[in-house]
Amino acid sequence: MKFVNSFKDKMKSYNGEHKLKYYIDTMGCQMNENDSLKYAGILESMGFEKGEEDNSNLYLFNTCCVRENAENTLFGRLGMLKKRKMNNEEVYIAIVGCMTQQEHILEKIKTSYRFVDVVLGTSCMSLFPEKLYNAIVNSKKKIEYIDVSNALEEEVPIKYEDKYKASVSIIYGCNNFCTYCIVPYVRGRERSRRPEDIVKDVKKLAQDGYKEIMLLGQNVNSYGNDFEEKYNFPMLLEELEKIDGIEIIRFMSPHPKDFKDDLIEVIKKSKKIARQIHLPLQSGNTEVLKRMNRKYTKEQFVELALKLKQISNISLSTDIIVGFPNETEEQFLDTLDVVKTVEFDQIYMFIYSKRNGTVAARMEDEVTYEEKVDRLERLKKLYEETLPALNAKMIGNTYKVLVEGKSKNNAELYTGRSSQNKVVIFEADDSYIGKVVDVKIDSEHLWYLKGTIVK
Ligand code: SAH
Ligand code: SF4
Ligand code: F3S
Repeated sequence: MKFVNSFKDKMKSYNGEHKLKYYIDTMGCQMNENDSLKYAGILESMGFEKGEEDNSNLYLFNTCCVRENAENTLFGRLGMLKKRKMNNEEVYIAIVGCMTQQEHILEKIKTSYRFVDVVLGTSCMSLFPEKLYNAIVNSKKKIEYIDVSNALEEEVPIKYEDKYKASVSIIYGCNNFCTYCIVPYVRGRERSRRPEDIVKDVKKLAQDGYKEIMLLGQNVNSYGNDFEEKYNFPMLLEELEKIDGIEIIRFMSPHPKDFKDDLIEVIKKSKKIARQIHLPLQSGNTEVLKRMNRKYTKEQFVELALKLKQISNISLSTDIIVGFPNETEEQFLDTLDVVKTVEFDQIYMFIYSKRNGTVAARMEDEVTYEEKVDRLERLKKLYEETLPALNAKMIGNTYKVLVEGKSKNNAELYTGRSSQNKVVIFEADDSYIGKVVDVKIDSEHLWYLKGTIVK
């Protein structure tokens, strides 16, 4: 479905006089960040100018509900804006994204936050220009329940902030229903974008000088399962590999259960796919994984991770949840065991957060919050103990790095990320910015590496 912005010109002429500024507050994952770039693109096509947090007129909150804490953050920020509205400042508020797909949130907005102007769910950006125009120009507010429309919108204007790396969504929604996770309920079922649309976008990015792309989806390796013809994620990667100008291809997240040999072969063969794979573990215990509905065992995960580690120069990152309902000490030790065996380069760690409506929310849980925090600390400690040795293995080797700009902490040095997604700093000059160079690693400093450009 083509995105139609029929209110663009009307809003633009209003903005010709009013020059409204927008500010976008994004919570959550990279899919949401990608959506925010689209909202920025839509707003600029309607004549809005980018503003700052303290001087804007339209505040757009692109929300996440994967864990509990985001709700308080959102309502706290709304409270602050209410004051500006009460002072008769020209302030409008729009709330979009995953959180608005939950009924209790809509109820709360309707009863206690009636000053909000526009509320929209996921996958319905086409409705945004009209709702916004009505709220601002016609003073018509309407807060309504939005069903997950399962739509796939193409040709939405997008405004990238970065000049050399860009994210591209390839599949929306999720069919996996991991028992702890709210995403399938708020993002709907899997919808893959047509390969020709993705190729068109990536070619355009290459023409515009982009060097690195990040392919996004809740489960990228189910890409194409919803097509009638056989076309899958490895085939898409091979197609994108051919696009001149793009030098680094990343993707996230793949689901371990769908990580088949054909994908491993494509990665091995590729000259562009980053030597970094995000492989979400969640738990290292087979019984917990079963209750999470992850569809792999501890042994299967370890086998896959070690197979991937045989690809030269590869680094692995992962997501882990501690304190899943009734997770025992022994079960948690299995998670630590997998972390020791696999040696991840990066771990995103979360304490289990109960999400109403999910299957896990109905499970009994006798693990105390203190115990969960303690497990998180122990996991963090183990990770930080393993990291220096992993980094040290990189010393003396040469890695591909996209030069991003001057280092913030070391003004005279430049920074970039290696293909392994490690932050690297080195001597350079402005002419290197936006180029992919070979950097030889000289030393490791836990969260970054220092090196020298060799080519
Ligand atoms: N689709 C991706 C991740 C989506 S959410 C995947 O399957 O890997 C990002 C991460 O948030 C998840 O990997 C998980 O580790 C974490 N997460 C999801 N639901 C959670 C919950 N209820 N409590 C704590 N962490 C959660
Ligand atoms: Fe959530 Fe699981 Fe889907 Fe990831 S794969 S979005 S964790 S349900
Ligand atoms: Fe959050 Fe929605 Fe992403 S719930 S993690 S923003 S898909």
